[in-house]
Amino acid sequence: MQLNQKENQEENKNEEQKNGSNQPRELDSALRPRSFNEFVGQAKIRKNLSVFIRAAQDRKEAIDHTLFYGPSGLGKTTLAHILASEMGVGIKITSGPAIERVGDLGAILTNLSDGDIFFIDEIHRLHKVIEEVLYPAMEDFAFDIIIGKGPSARTLRLDLPRFTLIGATTRIGLLSSPLLNRFGIVHRLDLYHSEDIEQVVTRSGKILNIELEKEGVEKIARSSRSTPRIANRLLKRVRDFAQVKGEGKITKKIAQEALDAMEVDEFGLEKTDRKILEVMIGQFKGRPVGIKTLAAATSEEEDTIECVYEPYLLQLGFIARTPRGRIATESAYKHLGIEYDEKNQEKLL
Ligand SMILES: Nc1ncnc2c1ncn2[C@@H]1O[C@H](COP(=O)(O)OP(=O)(O)OP(=O)(O)O)[C@@H](O)[C@H]1O
Ligand SMILES: [Mg+2]
Repeated sequence: MQLNQKENQEENKNEEQKNGSNQPRELDSALRPRSFNEFVGQAKIRKNLSVFIRAAQDRKEAIDHTLFYGPSGLGKTTLAHILASEMGVGIKITSGPAIERVGDLGAILTNLSDGDIFFIDEIHRLHKVIEEVLYPAMEDFAFDIIIGKGPSARTLRLDLPRFTLIGATTRIGLLSSPLLNRFGIVHRLDLYHSEDIEQVVTRSGKILNIELEKEGVEKIARSSRSTPRIANRLLKRVRDFAQVKGEGKITKKIAQEALDAMEVDEFGLEKTDRKILEVMIGQFKGRPVGIKTLAAATSEEEDTIECVYEPYLLQLGFIARTPRGRIATESAYKHLGIEYDEKNQEKLL
């Protein structure tokens, strides 16, 4: 139990870093949906998972190993928690890089109860040795330990409870195929529709007791990059402005003022997004740019560009992927107020 709490604290810390917020943790966890009814959007995933849960419960079995992938802040961790609570089972949380030794994995697996969920966040960062031990655990619910050394060494096979492994990753491309193949359920989380994001903002506003005007909600939602985590973060920051500069109520005007002050534009683009586009247009004159070059030119991590900035810029149609690299599109030029020379672009491509 103590271990569980420690892991939870660890997870909270990680999430606070991702949120970039120093808000007390209770607020964030208060906003996290606890059941499918509270989980906004992603209707297809919700529907499918509900069926798999019902079927597993009817058969009195653990649900099949499940993988969630997609950009940051869309609800992968949330879904893992919801699965545990809907199944009425325990959940043990860790992350890929945190499992350093085979023994650590053994300790977790052998302590699970039948049906429990073992959640590995950032599963693409599992160490290779650990991953290989996980294969028989996932497939045969067995854990092999080697006892002794040299010629007298022998393997002891421990039976494991029928657990469910839930993996989450922002980088599915980095998962080896043996690992990927062992997941019976694989779901990709997509960026949210604007009505869904508005619903997230409204829901969070209610939980946090914030007075919100419809137009204020729309303004925040439009700048949230189709991502619930960002919607919640912006909502909290706009609330600060409403409290200090207004009368506590989030109106369209206050929302606009707050977003301007935070340098978030009407598409939700922040300084770094604009920098990426400016580099692509200014420095590379619209030629295709590789991810490594782009990372170096903008002083951002490749991972961050791929998982945080790029998905949304692609969704907006501000960048396009070509076999030779990323290019900025005409819409990006327009957004930044830079003249687009079509003939010149054709020559470059
Ligand atoms: N469908 C949803 N409805 C309402 N709120 C949501 C939804 N999905 C996510 N959220 C909110 O966004 C926050 C971030 O979600 P979560 O931590 O599950 O994202 P994630 O996909 O695990 O991100 P990361 O890849 O960065 O770990 C949650 O704490 C929750 O408040
Ligand atoms: Mg997560």
